[in-house]
Amino acid sequence: MDTRSPRGTVDLLPEQARLWDIFVRTATEVFSGYGYEPIQTPIFEHTDLFVRGIGEATDVVSKEMFTVLGPSSVAALKAGEDLDADHRLTLRPEGTASVVRAVVQHNLVPKGGAPLKVHYAGPMFRYERPQKGRQRQFLQIGAELIGANAPTADAEMIIMLVRFYEAIGVPREQMRILVNSMGDDACRPAFRGKLDAYLSDHRDALCPRCQERADTNPLRIFDCKNPGCIAVMEAAPTLADNLCDDCADHYDRVLRMISHAGIDYTEDPSLVRGLDYYTRTVFEVQVDAGLGSQNAIGGGGRYDRLVEIVGGDPTPGLGFSIGFERTLLALEAAGTTPEPADEFVVYVAAAEDATRSVAFSVAQRLRDVDVRTELDHQGRSLKSQFKHADRLGARLTVVVGTDELSRGEIVVRDMDAKSEEVVGLDGIEAYIESIVSAWEIDAYFESWDGASSDEG
Ligand code: HAM
Repeated sequence: MDTRSPRGTVDLLPEQARLWDIFVRTATEVFSGYGYEPIQTPIFEHTDLFVRGIGEATDVVSKEMFTVLGPSSVAALKAGEDLDADHRLTLRPEGTASVVRAVVQHNLVPKGGAPLKVHYAGPMFRYERPQKGRQRQFLQIGAELIGANAPTADAEMIIMLVRFYEAIGVPREQMRILVNSMGDDACRPAFRGKLDAYLSDHRDALCPRCQERADTNPLRIFDCKNPGCIAVMEAAPTLADNLCDDCADHYDRVLRMISHAGIDYTEDPSLVRGLDYYTRTVFEVQVDAGLGSQNAIGGGGRYDRLVEIVGGDPTPGLGFSIGFERTLLALEAAGTTPEPADEFVVYVAAAEDATRSVAFSVAQRLRDVDVRTELDHQGRSLKSQFKHADRLGARLTVVVGTDELSRGEIVVRDMDAKSEEVVGLDGIEAYIESIVSAWEIDAYFESWDGASSDEG
């Protein structure tokens, strides 16, 4: 049997899984400050949701979807029958369409009601060619704001995204924040006409894939990395130059607000994003260090037609998603990867086999008062329990020995100072807690000293 995980997937071993926890915790802290609440949607949805929501002509829908087959679907396919819509299921390639589906299903944004602000975190699936920063199963954290049309909402989204990156450790000077406007139903059709005319004059200079895209999804040509296509698109009409008055005014206000908030952005008329639902503001955060061509660590935008496309009343919306793996590569390159959780504080060792059950109950009592505690489950000798404690980085080891127990006492050993203290068994929790809080006070003053000497 092949014991490797499938191509394009990775195991998050404890070290990386801890970092994912830190990402989710940091996102929850940052986003809740803006009024966002968590939401969980299924990992698979009806295929039609993505086809209609993301767009049939996008790469994500036309080439990258993982379709899920239940037993009855397999049987139907074997019998040469077509699957009905209920049986066509797909692993989610992104979270926005699912959130919007949940909004419609549960009427979460009733007419005249307050907007909905939600955030989510979890795996997404795209059948792409794996490379650095590009996997077939990857992790995203996302936020969606549904029911808000004012440009303040767009500005808040961009500011919140940058806040998250700063909070997790991406240096501000390494982030390239690109923005563009995709227009809306009032201005996009006329723009499409101009673009189509321009592309038909330059068709021969496009790569074969873009010649195809010129018919199916011409905006995507702005994203092509082929030098011939780049040269053609440099002179192409842009959306930003063809916005209607309302879209131009909206875009202008967003740019002014983010600028006032100190966000150093770049307007990029070629930023078109890979999903068809966008209208008006789109944005992306790119970082070069540590990433190859997959340098977008997150992005998003407004999707004012998506709720309607999915079957609800016309309701504006916008959001973003953050790619965990790419952001981690950026943090590694910047040397700012968040510190993993604290080391074990206490190890409880049994001096003899006869005291193992008391050692076990002492460990449970310490855990009950939230002290990080570990003990031996392999019948090791006392010497190798000490070694184990050292390897785990325990600062204290509680030694439970027969002689001390007969007097109602146990020994607490300071692993750094190599000193020992005999303590009453009954008061062990209070004793350990007092030591831990003294460490915390010391650590607080140390960090405070560090901060004031930095300033000085
Ligand atoms: P997206 O740009 O397709 O947007 O994905 C967001 C981020 O997910 C990317 O910037 C990238 O960091 C990461 N990502 C995408 N594909 C892969 C992959 N194959 N491997 C590793 N990381 C990847 C969305 O998904 C939209 N739902 C964002 C949004 C939310 N727009 C409005 N609301």
